[in-house]
Amino acid sequence: MQLDDLYRRVIMDHYKNPRNHGKFENDAVTIDLNNPTCGDRISLQLKVEDGVVKDAKYTGEGCSISMSSASMMTEAVKGKTLEEAVMLASKFSCLMKGEDVEFEDYEDIEALSGVNKFPARIKCATLAWNALRKGIEDTEQKD
Ligand code: FES
Repeated sequence: MQLDDLYRRVIMDHYKNPRNHGKFENDAVTIDLNNPTCGDRISLQLKVEDGVVKDAKYTGEGCSISMSSASMMTEAVKGKTLEEAVMLASKFSCLMKGEDVEFEDYEDIEALSGVNKFPARIKCATLAWNALRKGIEDTEQKD
């Protein structure tokens, strides 16, 4: 199987079988963001304790790229310290610039590497990650 096909399958799997989709019943940091160019949106919730992202969930509406990226991001960020989560988001930005980065802890993210060839889709892929950055900033400001 070609790498592009494999990547497409991984993306569609996250889109059709989203990980961490839903909402927490009690307190969590909530970040609502939308993609102004298409109106798609994400509501990300993070549970942070002692500087560690214990859990993450999201809801939203969007294209397969934006929603699969949210699914992957929430999987990858669980158990990470806030510092590690920021590093993960920076790594994702590098991936979107076409840099050759590896996500050893959660390889599915690498399936989005092809997005950098389609500038209009980069905003789709980064929506969830921007929400993550904002959530970390909000958490740090609260402390
Ligand atoms: Fe709207 Fe992708 S087309 S987020």
